[in-house]
Amino acid sequence: MDLDTFAADLDALRERALAAVAEAIDPATLDVVDAAYLGRKGELRRLLSGIGALPVADRPRVGAIANPTRQELEAAIATRRERLEGIHMDVRLAGEAEDVTLPGRPLARGSLHPLKETEREIARFFARYGFVPYESPEVETDELNFQALNIPPDHPARDLWDTVYVVPPAGQPVEATADRSRWLLRTHTSPGQIRALRELEPPMRVLTPGRCYRYEATDASHGSEFFQVEGLMVDEGTSLAHLRGLLDEFAHHLFGADRGTRFRPGYYPFTEPSVAFDIACVVCDGAGCPACGRTGWMTILGAGMVHPVVLRNGGLDPERYQGFAFGMGVDRITMLRFGVPDLRAFYANDLRFLERF
Ligand code: DAH
Repeated sequence: MDLDTFAADLDALRERALAAVAEAIDPATLDVVDAAYLGRKGELRRLLSGIGALPVADRPRVGAIANPTRQELEAAIATRRERLEGIHMDVRLAGEAEDVTLPGRPLARGSLHPLKETEREIARFFARYGFVPYESPEVETDELNFQALNIPPDHPARDLWDTVYVVPPAGQPVEATADRSRWLLRTHTSPGQIRALRELEPPMRVLTPGRCYRYEATDASHGSEFFQVEGLMVDEGTSLAHLRGLLDEFAHHLFGADRGTRFRPGYYPFTEPSVAFDIACVVCDGAGCPACGRTGWMTILGAGMVHPVVLRNGGLDPERYQGFAFGMGVDRITMLRFGVPDLRAFYANDLRFLERF
């Protein structure tokens, strides 16, 4: 081999390398080309390793001939790499781009459960008349759920409330013999009356909403769990007329301004007199139909004047203070408001049902 042959081989290598660089269409291919021509086991090295065959006098010139070619190839690869990486980035960015003109995906928003919505509507109404929320616990004593409400242990009215008894919460005395300290799940929100009477000073107007429990089979109109709202007003000179006026407003608010209303005599141990409050049937408007047992009326709550015994149990003098109280089933009122025939639908957690509200 002589220097001319070497130069010719080098030129051929240069041509091939430049062509390969020009053909590389992505950075990874360019890496392969780089390694194939300029790498440790690349063609340029291999060509240079052949210089041992050159005459000794020619060898120093090899570097002068080869170096510009190496530099040219390095520069060509660097230029090409910059170009390809730019394109690569453009392609990636184009793939990641958001099309801001696409319509948005709908977000599924939650909403209030119909029972909670009704409870709040009831609370909003009574708040306008000064009734403030008063919380009372779901786990209650026999004393507050029954006895302080004028329902002694063997009173027949206990049959109105089939009761779930529970073991005492940790740390509470167990005196299981004494009915007084038996623990139960409240069967109504009325024990809130005793708590409010004992805690607050008249004049008072409180509203106690909450979950109640009964030991009873579930059907379309009875649940073993359900919700009530209890109202209590105590002041000097409170009368049944105040109660009637307030409940009329309430019925008109929830069921329409023309809705007929009436008081019927009722019985509860904790009120005297006791009344059932009826509204004209929401289905037939009073004409009489199967929904109202052909009476034209539907009972929506129980109420009355707070019994003197209850006032006294609450620490008040019944000669000085009078009060009225009422208790309503949120489930029933919600059924009537929205025409839901079976309260079990409120507890089934079926979104197709709940989304209708
Ligand atoms: N506590 C009664 C029940 O669960 C409802 C009730 C009736 C509440 C009359 C009252 C009332 O405050 O005065 O069935």
